[in-house]
Amino acid sequence: MPNLTVWMSHGDSVSKLPADFVRIAHSDNTPYAAIANKAKRIYGVQFHPEVVNTQQGMDIINNFVYNIAGMPPTWNMKSFVTEAIDEIKSTVGNQKVLLALSGGVDSTTVAALLHKAIGKQLVCMFIDQGFMRKDEAKKIVELVNDNFKITLIHVDAADRFFKAIEGVSDPEQKRKLIGHEFISVFEEEAKKLKGEINFLAQGTLYPDVIESATSGVSKNAVKIKTHHNVGGLPEKMKFKVIEPLKRLFKDEVRLMGLELEVPERIVYRQPFPGPGLAIRIMGEVTRERVRVLQEADDIVMDEIKKAGLYRKVWQAFAVLLPIKTVGVMGDKRTYLHTIAVRVVTSQDAMTANWAHVPYEVLGEISTRIINEIPEINRVVYDITSKPPSTIEWE
Ligand code: XMP
Repeated sequence: MPNLTVWMSHGDSVSKLPADFVRIAHSDNTPYAAIANKAKRIYGVQFHPEVVNTQQGMDIINNFVYNIAGMPPTWNMKSFVTEAIDEIKSTVGNQKVLLALSGGVDSTTVAALLHKAIGKQLVCMFIDQGFMRKDEAKKIVELVNDNFKITLIHVDAADRFFKAIEGVSDPEQKRKLIGHEFISVFEEEAKKLKGEINFLAQGTLYPDVIESATSGVSKNAVKIKTHHNVGGLPEKMKFKVIEPLKRLFKDEVRLMGLELEVPERIVYRQPFPGPGLAIRIMGEVTRERVRVLQEADDIVMDEIKKAGLYRKVWQAFAVLLPIKTVGVMGDKRTYLHTIAVRVVTSQDAMTANWAHVPYEVLGEISTRIINEIPEINRVVYDITSKPPSTIEWE
């Protein structure tokens, strides 16, 4: 009998088989890891075939769906896109849709889909809070202008955001203030379009739907970090909402993006948090500190890409620490700030491991940060996984 490594929860287990069922797999701890009634074509597994840690999990699911249940693989991304476009067209008619664009894969894919479905009836809004990566805001505007001939409202709200979090060091406070400011700016700008816009499009994914459906169940769940998005706005502003990605997982959104010819650098872009660099600057966020972190972050990205690691890791970035340490440069004493470099591997960000980036690559990152950024005299590498740490530092 061949062996298979699987992930299995031992919290519950089958103690007695139903009539006419036989056992087809077991483990040292579980007499019935998989059971079957071959005549009725009913199969059950106690382990998780869907997780990457289960060997041949996809084969088990494929076999069940195609061979046992006899479901033909008629669903593919091309047909899904066609259906989604038809649905959007019939819902929206000749009305207008507003989309908040962040430059990430989800909102950009929604933009591409809506653009294909309703063309100029799509209005995109990009709110620049001033905490983007180096040159990122410029790239987002270029991307929209190069790829779609639609209205892009580019709101440069940096002054407001810096003011909103002036003097604030507490991470939760920062996140909340940024979230509130984002909603205020969006609301104000959207009001200017009143009468014109009927729908608000959102890049909600299936995991978000599951999470909000089950959040009432896990009453004991502790809030770790406040995430911000434009949730809550539609009710307040009386927009009707369309969420064309709500039946998709992230990897399917990427496929859709490719199908819609969204540039690969967006489709495979590493996740970037809504509050941006503000939560990678420990302590107070100032324009000057954002500029320093942008430079360090740009070097990390550049070296990770050069080393061919960009798509192999989940995220790579720099964090600016509020402490100063003593150093020596040339024959002078220095007393300057520290950059922490964080690179993690992960499947879904729920858990993550610190990446074993080759010493040569880390060395190059460190040398360049020290040589190119006069405000920094020390670079450290974060070697904690999640849990116990989180991916972001705040
Ligand atoms: P943590 O730090 O909780 O992050 O381990 C898990 C993943 O979520 C991203 N992240 C955010 N994404 N808005 C977002 O859209 C946020 O406020 C936010 N905070 C964290 C983080 O980059 C990581 O991929």
